[in-house]
Amino acid sequence: KRPAGAPDKSLARKVTKVGVVGAGLMASQMALLFARRLEVPVVLTDLDQSRLDKGVGYVRDEVGKLLAKGRITADQANRLTSLVTGSLTKDAFADADFVIEAVFEDMAVKKQVFAEVEAVVPATCVLATNTSSLSLTEMGAGLAHPERLVGFHFFNPVAVMPLLEIVRGAATDDATLATAFAVGKSLKKSSVLVKDAPAFVVNRLLTCFMGEVVAAVDEGTPLETAEHALDGLGLPMTPFALLQLVGPAVGLHVAETLHEAFPDRFGVSENMAKLVASGKPGVYRPDFTLDEE
Ligand code: CAA
Repeated sequence: KRPAGAPDKSLARKVTKVGVVGAGLMASQMALLFARRLEVPVVLTDLDQSRLDKGVGYVRDEVGKLLAKGRITADQANRLTSLVTGSLTKDAFADADFVIEAVFEDMAVKKQVFAEVEAVVPATCVLATNTSSLSLTEMGAGLAHPERLVGFHFFNPVAVMPLLEIVRGAATDDATLATAFAVGKSLKKSSVLVKDAPAFVVNRLLTCFMGEVVAAVDEGTPLETAEHALDGLGLPMTPFALLQLVGPAVGLHVAETLHEAFPDRFGVSENMAKLVASGKPGVYRPDFTLDEE
Protein backbone atom coordinates (compact mmCIF):
# COMPACT_ATOMS: atom_id res chain seq x y z
CA LYS A 1 0.00 0.00 0.00
CA ARG A 2 1.32 3.43 -0.96
CA PRO A 3 2.02 5.59 2.15
CA ALA A 4 -0.26 8.64 2.43
CA GLY A 5 1.04 11.47 0.25
CA ALA A 6 3.74 9.39 -1.46
CA PRO A 7 4.00 9.97 -5.22
CA ASP A 8 3.75 7.10 -7.73
CA LYS A 9 6.76 4.82 -7.24
CA SER A 10 7.40 4.76 -11.02
CA LEU A 11 8.85 8.26 -10.54
CA ALA A 12 11.60 6.97 -8.24
CA ARG A 13 15.18 7.10 -9.52
CA LYS A 14 17.59 4.23 -9.06
CA VAL A 15 20.18 4.61 -6.31
CA THR A 16 23.52 2.95 -7.04
CA LYS A 17 25.83 4.90 -4.73
CA VAL A 18 25.21 6.73 -1.46
CA GLY A 19 27.14 9.57 0.17
CA VAL A 20 26.88 10.33 3.89
CA VAL A 21 28.16 13.68 5.18
CA GLY A 22 29.41 13.41 8.73
CA ALA A 23 30.93 10.34 10.33
CA GLY A 24 29.35 10.67 13.78
CA LEU A 25 27.34 7.92 15.43
CA MET A 26 24.07 8.46 13.59
CA ALA A 27 25.85 8.93 10.23
CA SER A 28 27.86 5.73 10.72
CA GLN A 29 24.73 3.80 11.63
CA MET A 30 23.09 5.12 8.46
CA ALA A 31 26.09 4.14 6.33
CA LEU A 32 25.85 0.57 7.56
CA LEU A 33 22.09 0.45 7.02
CA PHE A 34 22.37 1.78 3.44
CA ALA A 35 25.14 -0.71 2.59
CA ARG A 36 23.27 -3.60 4.15
CA ARG A 37 19.85 -2.95 2.66
CA LEU A 38 20.66 -1.26 -0.67
CA GLU A 39 23.83 -3.29 -1.28
CA VAL A 40 25.54 -0.31 -2.91
CA PRO A 41 28.82 1.51 -2.16
CA VAL A 42 28.51 4.08 0.63
CA VAL A 43 31.07 6.85 1.18
CA LEU A 44 31.30 8.64 4.52
CA THR A 45 32.93 12.07 4.59
CA ASP A 46 34.07 14.20 7.50
CA LEU A 47 36.47 17.03 8.14
CA ASP A 48 39.18 15.14 9.95
CA GLN A 49 40.74 11.74 9.56
CA SER A 50 40.24 10.64 13.17
CA ARG A 51 36.47 11.15 13.00
CA LEU A 52 36.41 9.35 9.69
CA ASP A 53 38.40 6.43 11.07
CA LYS A 54 36.05 6.27 14.05
CA GLY A 55 32.99 6.17 11.76
CA VAL A 56 34.39 3.48 9.48
CA GLY A 57 35.63 1.59 12.56
CA TYR A 58 32.11 1.69 14.04
CA VAL A 59 30.72 0.11 10.86
CA ARG A 60 33.38 -2.61 10.96
CA ASP A 61 32.59 -3.37 14.63
CA GLU A 62 28.84 -3.54 14.01
CA VAL A 63 29.41 -5.86 11.04
CA GLY A 64 31.46 -8.06 13.39
CA LYS A 65 28.53 -8.15 15.84
CA LEU A 66 26.07 -9.11 13.10
CA LEU A 67 28.41 -11.91 12.03
CA ALA A 68 28.86 -13.12 15.62
CA LYS A 69 25.06 -13.23 16.05
CA GLY A 70 24.73 -15.29 12.87
CA ARG A 71 22.67 -12.59 11.14
CA ILE A 72 25.04 -12.42 8.18
CA THR A 73 27.54 -14.82 6.59
CA ALA A 74 31.30 -14.25 6.50
CA ASP A 75 31.01 -13.40 2.78
CA GLN A 76 28.29 -10.83 3.50
CA ALA A 77 30.41 -9.37 6.31
CA ASN A 78 33.38 -8.95 3.98
CA ARG A 79 31.21 -7.41 1.31
CA LEU A 80 29.57 -5.00 3.77
CA THR A 81 32.94 -3.91 5.12
CA SER A 82 34.23 -3.26 1.61
CA LEU A 83 31.10 -1.31 0.61
CA VAL A 84 31.57 1.37 3.31
CA THR A 85 34.58 3.63 2.81
CA GLY A 86 35.66 7.04 4.11
CA SER A 87 36.85 10.11 2.24
CA LEU A 88 38.06 13.48 3.46
CA THR A 89 36.72 15.23 0.35
CA LYS A 90 33.28 15.37 -1.16
CA ASP A 91 34.73 14.61 -4.63
CA ALA A 92 33.96 11.01 -3.73
CA PHE A 93 30.28 11.91 -4.29
CA ALA A 94 30.84 12.62 -8.00
CA ASP A 95 28.87 9.51 -9.02
CA ALA A 96 26.47 9.33 -6.05
CA ASP A 97 22.70 9.43 -6.61
CA PHE A 98 21.67 9.89 -2.96
CA VAL A 99 23.61 12.03 -0.49
CA ILE A 100 22.42 12.43 3.09
CA GLU A 101 23.85 14.78 5.69
CA ALA A 102 23.93 14.09 9.41
CA VAL A 103 26.09 16.97 10.63
CA PHE A 104 25.55 19.35 13.56
CA GLU A 105 22.03 20.82 13.81
CA ASP A 106 22.90 24.29 12.56
CA MET A 107 21.21 25.86 9.54
CA ALA A 108 24.34 27.68 8.32
CA VAL A 109 26.47 24.52 8.58
CA LYS A 110 23.89 22.45 6.70
CA LYS A 111 23.55 25.07 3.95
CA GLN A 112 27.32 25.15 3.54
CA VAL A 113 27.44 21.34 3.35
CA PHE A 114 24.79 21.23 0.62
CA ALA A 115 26.48 24.01 -1.37
CA GLU A 116 29.67 21.93 -1.38
CA VAL A 117 27.81 18.72 -2.21
CA GLU A 118 25.83 20.35 -5.02
CA ALA A 119 29.10 21.44 -6.66
CA VAL A 120 30.20 17.83 -7.19
CA VAL A 121 27.14 15.55 -7.50
CA PRO A 122 25.30 14.66 -10.74
CA ALA A 123 22.22 16.73 -11.67
CA THR A 124 19.75 14.04 -10.59
CA CYS A 125 21.33 13.25 -7.21
CA VAL A 126 18.87 13.43 -4.29
CA LEU A 127 20.04 15.62 -1.39
CA ALA A 128 18.64 14.36 1.89
CA THR A 129 18.91 15.82 5.37
CA ASN A 130 18.57 13.99 8.66
CA THR A 131 17.64 17.22 10.43
CA SER A 132 15.33 16.63 13.38
CA SER A 133 13.83 20.12 13.50
CA LEU A 134 15.09 22.62 10.92
CA SER A 135 13.05 24.01 8.00
CA LEU A 136 13.57 22.21 4.69
CA THR A 137 12.37 25.18 2.73
CA GLU A 138 14.92 27.47 4.35
CA MET A 139 17.70 24.89 3.94
CA GLY A 140 16.97 24.60 0.21
CA ALA A 141 16.73 28.35 -0.38
CA GLY A 142 20.35 28.79 -1.53
CA LEU A 143 20.52 25.64 -3.66
CA ALA A 144 20.71 25.70 -7.46
CA HIS A 145 18.21 22.80 -7.42
CA PRO A 146 16.09 22.97 -4.25
CA GLU A 147 13.61 20.55 -5.86
CA ARG A 148 15.95 17.66 -5.02
CA LEU A 149 16.21 18.38 -1.30
CA VAL A 150 14.16 16.15 0.99
CA GLY A 151 14.00 15.47 4.72
CA PHE A 152 14.95 11.91 5.69
CA HIS A 153 14.76 11.79 9.45
CA PHE A 154 15.88 8.65 11.27
CA PHE A 155 15.46 7.84 14.96
CA ASN A 156 18.05 6.53 17.39
CA PRO A 157 19.25 3.77 17.21
CA VAL A 158 19.01 3.92 13.40
CA ALA A 159 19.35 0.16 12.98
CA VAL A 160 16.45 -0.59 15.29
CA MET A 161 13.82 2.17 15.20
CA PRO A 162 11.28 1.40 12.47
CA LEU A 163 10.07 4.90 11.60
CA LEU A 164 11.37 7.36 9.02
CA GLU A 165 9.95 10.87 8.72
CA ILE A 166 10.12 12.03 5.09
CA VAL A 167 9.79 15.79 4.81
CA ARG A 168 8.64 17.67 1.73
CA GLY A 169 9.99 21.21 1.44
CA ALA A 170 8.20 23.90 -0.57
CA ALA A 171 10.30 23.07 -3.65
CA THR A 172 10.74 19.28 -3.31
CA ASP A 173 9.58 17.59 -6.52
CA ASP A 174 7.73 14.28 -6.96
CA ALA A 175 10.73 12.37 -8.38
CA THR A 176 12.80 13.27 -5.29
CA LEU A 177 9.99 12.33 -2.94
CA ALA A 178 9.31 9.06 -4.77
CA THR A 179 13.03 8.19 -4.60
CA ALA A 180 13.04 8.94 -0.85
CA PHE A 181 10.06 6.61 -0.28
CA ALA A 182 11.66 3.88 -2.44
CA VAL A 183 14.91 4.13 -0.47
CA GLY A 184 12.95 4.08 2.82
CA LYS A 185 11.23 0.88 1.69
CA SER A 186 14.55 -0.76 0.73
CA LEU A 187 15.84 0.15 4.20
CA LYS A 188 12.77 -1.70 5.59
CA LYS A 189 11.57 1.40 7.43
CA SER A 190 7.97 2.60 7.77
CA SER A 191 8.03 5.95 6.03
CA VAL A 192 5.56 8.71 6.79
CA LEU A 193 5.27 12.01 4.94
CA VAL A 194 5.33 14.97 7.31
CA LYS A 195 4.88 18.68 6.75
CA ASP A 196 7.84 21.04 6.83
CA ALA A 197 6.91 22.35 10.29
CA PRO A 198 9.16 23.00 13.32
CA ALA A 199 10.41 19.62 14.62
CA PHE A 200 8.01 17.86 12.20
CA VAL A 201 5.76 15.44 14.15
CA VAL A 202 7.67 12.91 16.28
CA ASN A 203 10.02 15.36 17.98
CA ARG A 204 7.15 17.72 18.65
CA LEU A 205 5.38 15.02 20.64
CA LEU A 206 8.59 13.74 22.23
CA THR A 207 9.56 17.25 23.35
CA CYS A 208 6.17 17.71 25.08
CA PHE A 209 6.78 14.58 27.09
CA MET A 210 10.50 15.03 27.75
CA GLY A 211 10.06 18.74 28.45
CA GLU A 212 7.54 17.95 31.17
CA VAL A 213 9.80 15.32 32.77
CA VAL A 214 12.70 17.79 32.86
CA ALA A 215 10.44 20.60 34.11
CA ALA A 216 9.14 18.36 36.91
CA VAL A 217 12.72 17.77 38.08
CA ASP A 218 13.62 21.45 37.71
CA GLU A 219 10.60 22.24 39.90
CA GLY A 220 11.73 19.87 42.66
CA THR A 221 10.48 16.38 41.85
CA PRO A 222 13.32 14.02 42.84
CA LEU A 223 15.24 12.73 39.83
CA GLU A 224 14.62 9.12 40.93
CA THR A 225 10.88 9.70 41.00
CA ALA A 226 10.78 11.30 37.57
CA GLU A 227 13.12 8.66 36.21
CA HIS A 228 10.79 5.84 37.18
CA ALA A 229 7.40 7.54 37.12
CA LEU A 230 6.79 6.21 33.63
CA ASP A 231 7.77 2.60 34.27
CA GLY A 232 4.07 1.73 34.37
CA LEU A 233 3.67 2.74 30.73
CA GLY A 234 6.09 0.06 29.57
CA LEU A 235 8.36 2.39 27.63
CA PRO A 236 11.60 0.65 26.59
CA MET A 237 13.80 3.28 28.30
CA THR A 238 13.57 5.72 31.17
CA PRO A 239 13.31 9.39 30.11
CA PHE A 240 16.86 10.26 31.11
CA ALA A 241 18.32 7.20 29.39
CA LEU A 242 16.46 8.34 26.28
CA LEU A 243 17.84 11.85 26.67
CA GLN A 244 21.31 10.38 26.87
CA LEU A 245 20.72 8.25 23.76
CA VAL A 246 19.47 11.20 21.73
CA GLY A 247 22.15 13.48 23.13
CA PRO A 248 21.35 16.44 25.42
CA ALA A 249 22.58 18.93 22.76
CA VAL A 250 20.15 17.57 20.17
CA GLY A 251 17.30 17.48 22.71
CA LEU A 252 18.04 21.09 23.71
CA HIS A 253 18.20 22.21 20.09
CA VAL A 254 14.81 20.71 19.33
CA ALA A 255 13.33 22.32 22.47
CA GLU A 256 14.76 25.71 21.45
CA THR A 257 13.39 25.40 17.91
CA LEU A 258 9.94 24.58 19.26
CA HIS A 259 10.12 27.34 21.87
CA GLU A 260 10.89 29.85 19.13
CA ALA A 261 7.98 28.62 17.01
CA PHE A 262 5.44 28.16 19.84
CA PRO A 263 6.68 30.17 22.88
CA ASP A 264 3.43 29.64 24.79
CA ARG A 265 3.59 25.86 24.45
CA PHE A 266 7.27 24.86 24.75
CA GLY A 267 9.83 25.90 27.37
CA VAL A 268 13.59 25.46 27.55
CA SER A 269 15.13 24.18 30.79
CA GLU A 270 17.88 26.50 32.05
CA ASN A 271 19.59 23.56 33.76
CA MET A 272 19.63 21.67 30.49
CA ALA A 273 21.03 24.67 28.64
CA LYS A 274 23.81 25.00 31.27
CA LEU A 275 24.64 21.30 31.00
CA VAL A 276 24.95 21.45 27.21
CA ALA A 277 26.93 24.72 27.30
CA SER A 278 29.44 23.14 29.67
CA GLY A 279 30.24 20.55 27.01
CA LYS A 280 30.30 17.88 29.70
CA PRO A 281 29.05 14.49 28.66
CA GLY A 282 26.57 12.82 30.96
CA VAL A 283 22.95 12.71 31.86
CA TYR A 284 20.78 15.60 32.91
CA ARG A 285 21.15 16.47 36.58
CA PRO A 286 18.98 19.03 38.27
CA ASP A 287 21.73 19.79 40.79
CA PHE A 288 24.20 20.51 37.98
CA THR A 289 26.02 23.80 38.26
CA LEU A 290 28.92 25.17 36.26
CA ASP A 291 30.72 25.70 39.60
CA GLU A 292 31.20 21.95 39.91
CA GLU A 293 34.28 22.12 37.71
N1 CAA B 1 22.81 -0.11 17.08
C1 CAA B 1 22.42 -1.27 16.54
N2 CAA B 1 21.60 -2.13 17.17
C2 CAA B 1 21.22 -1.81 18.42
C3 CAA B 1 21.62 -0.62 19.06
C4 CAA B 1 22.45 0.24 18.32
N3 CAA B 1 22.89 1.40 18.84
N4 CAA B 1 21.07 -0.57 20.29
C5 CAA B 1 20.36 -1.70 20.42
N5 CAA B 1 20.45 -2.43 19.30
C6 CAA B 1 19.82 -3.72 19.02
C7 CAA B 1 20.49 -4.80 19.79
O1 CAA B 1 21.61 -5.30 19.08
C8 CAA B 1 19.38 -5.84 19.88
O2 CAA B 1 19.29 -6.52 18.66
P1 CAA B 1 18.93 -8.08 18.60
O3 CAA B 1 17.67 -8.27 19.37
O4 CAA B 1 18.78 -8.31 17.14
O5 CAA B 1 20.09 -8.77 19.19
C9 CAA B 1 18.12 -4.98 20.02
O6 CAA B 1 18.48 -3.68 19.50
C10 CAA B 1 17.67 -4.84 21.45
O7 CAA B 1 18.76 -4.30 22.20
P2 CAA B 1 19.08 -4.68 23.72
O8 CAA B 1 18.56 -6.07 23.99
O9 CAA B 1 20.50 -4.39 23.98
O10 CAA B 1 18.33 -3.60 24.59
P3 CAA B 1 16.82 -3.16 24.66
O11 CAA B 1 15.89 -4.31 24.44
O12 CAA B 1 16.74 -2.37 25.89
O13 CAA B 1 16.67 -2.20 23.39
C11 CAA B 1 16.61 -0.02 22.49
C12 CAA B 1 17.45 -1.07 23.23
C13 CAA B 1 16.28 -0.56 21.10
C14 CAA B 1 17.50 1.21 22.37
C15 CAA B 1 15.30 0.23 23.28
O14 CAA B 1 15.62 0.57 24.59
C16 CAA B 1 14.45 1.34 22.67
O15 CAA B 1 13.71 1.12 21.74
N6 CAA B 1 14.54 2.55 23.26
C17 CAA B 1 13.75 3.73 22.81
C18 CAA B 1 14.52 4.45 21.77
C19 CAA B 1 13.77 5.64 21.28
O16 CAA B 1 12.75 6.05 21.80
N7 CAA B 1 14.32 6.22 20.22
C20 CAA B 1 13.80 7.47 19.66
C21 CAA B 1 14.71 8.55 20.07
S1 CAA B 1 14.13 10.10 19.47
C22 CAA B 1 15.10 10.43 18.15
O17 CAA B 1 15.99 9.75 17.78
C23 CAA B 1 14.64 11.62 17.40
C24 CAA B 1 15.53 12.76 17.30
O18 CAA B 1 15.67 13.31 16.21
C25 CAA B 1 16.12 13.41 18.47
